[in-house]
Amino acid sequence: MKQALVCGAGGFIASHMVKRLKQEGFWVRGVDLKYPEFSETPADDFVIGDLRDQSLCREIVDRKYDEVYQFAADMGGAGYIFTGEHDADVMSNSATINLNMVEACRKRNVKRVFYSSSACMYPAYNQEDPNNPNCAESSAYPAAPDSEYGWEKLFSERLYLAYHRNYKMESRVGRFHNIFGPEGTWTGGKEKAPAAMCRKVAQAKDGDTIQIWGDGKQTRSFLIVDECIEGVLRLTRSDKTGPYNIGSEEMVSINQLVEMVMEIAGKKIHVEHIPGPTGVRGRNSDNTLIAKELGWAPSQSLRQGLETTYAWVEEQVRKGQK
Ligand code: NAD
Ligand code: GDD
Repeated sequence: MKQALVCGAGGFIASHMVKRLKQEGFWVRGVDLKYPEFSETPADDFVIGDLRDQSLCREIVDRKYDEVYQFAADMGGAGYIFTGEHDADVMSNSATINLNMVEACRKRNVKRVFYSSSACMYPAYNQEDPNNPNCAESSAYPAAPDSEYGWEKLFSERLYLAYHRNYKMESRVGRFHNIFGPEGTWTGGKEKAPAAMCRKVAQAKDGDTIQIWGDGKQTRSFLIVDECIEGVLRLTRSDKTGPYNIGSEEMVSINQLVEMVMEIAGKKIHVEHIPGPTGVRGRNSDNTLIAKELGWAPSQSLRQGLETTYAWVEEQVRKGQK
C-alpha cells in the first residue's frame, strides 16, 4: 500500500487532498494544528501538532513516504496578507515549517515532495495592467512580490529546488492561483474573494447593498479545488520539477465575479466600492508551460465552480443563522 503524508491537512486544499488520496487507496497521515472544520477526515492517522517544531517534523516523517504534500502555511486572502499586520508571523511561521519539513524529508529520503507556492511570488510590476498581467513562469525575475507572503513563497520554492539540485530530492513546486471551493475559509478575515462574495450575497436580500474593496476593476482568475488537486497529482507524479502555474486562465474582474454570484443566487443587490486591501491590479494564470509539458489544463468554468461553492457557503450562512 502506498503511503502519503499531508501537511496542513486540517486546512482547505490539504483536506481535499487527503480525501482524494484515500479514494486512491493510499495509507494517509495528516498533520495540522487543528482538525478540518467542515467534515471528518478520512486520514488513517491525524497528528495534531505544530510543524514549526523540528522534533515533530522528524517524528511524523518516520518513513520513506511515497508522496509528501506540504500545504501548511500561515496564509489568507487579501484581508490577511495585504494589510501588513501579519507580515512577521507569515514569514517566520511559514519559512520555519518549510525549513523543518524539507530537512525531515531529506533525512528519510522520501520519494516525492510537493510544495505549494503561490502566484503572489510574481513581480508586482508585471501585474499593473488589469487586462494584460504577465504571470508566465519565466517572468518571476527580477523578483518583486507585492507582499511578504509572496517573498516567503519565493524563498521556500527556491529551498525545495535547492534540495532537488544538491540532495537529489524529488521536489515538485506548484504556484497556485486563487483556489476556491466548498469547505474553504468563508468568514473570519482569512477568506478570499470568491468565498467572501458568496457570503455577502448569501447574507443579503434583494435591494440590499454589499461592500467590496477597491473599484472592482482589479482582475483575477480562480481555480476550483478539485482541478487544483488534479494538477498537483499530475505534477507530483511526473518527472518534472517545476515551478508550474496551477490556476485557471478565465480572468474576470471582481465586479464580474460579484455579478456572477448574484446571478447564481437569483438576487438583485447593489454594490458599494470601499477602500480596502486590494493587492495587484491584475493577475491571471498562464498555463502554456504546464499544458505543454504535463498536458494539464482545468476543464470546469468559473461559473460551474461558483455554483457549488455558493450552495455550500449559503448552507453555512443558513446554519449560522439558526
Ligand atoms: P489553509 O489556511 O486552509 O490551510 C493551511 C493549513 O496549515 C491550516 O489548516 C493551518 O492550520 C495549517 N498550519 C498553519 N501553521 C501550521 C503549523 N505551524 N503547524 C501545522 N499546521 C499549520 O490554506 P489553503 O487555502 O488550504 O492553502 C494551502 C497551501 O496552498 C498554503 O501553503 C497556501 O499558501 C497555498 N496557496 C493557497 C492558495 C489559495 O488560493 N487557497 C493560493 C496560493 C497558494
Ligand atoms: N478577500 C476579499 N474579501 N477580497 C475582496 C473583497 C472582500 O470582501 N472585496 C474585494 N476584494 C478584492 C481584493 O481587494 C482583491 O483585489 C481581490 O478581491 C482578490 O482578493 P483575494 O481573493 O482575497 O486575494 P488575492 O487574489 O489578491 O490573493 C490570493 O490569491 C493568491 C494566489 O493567487 C490570496 O489568497 C493569496 O494568499 C494567494 O496566494
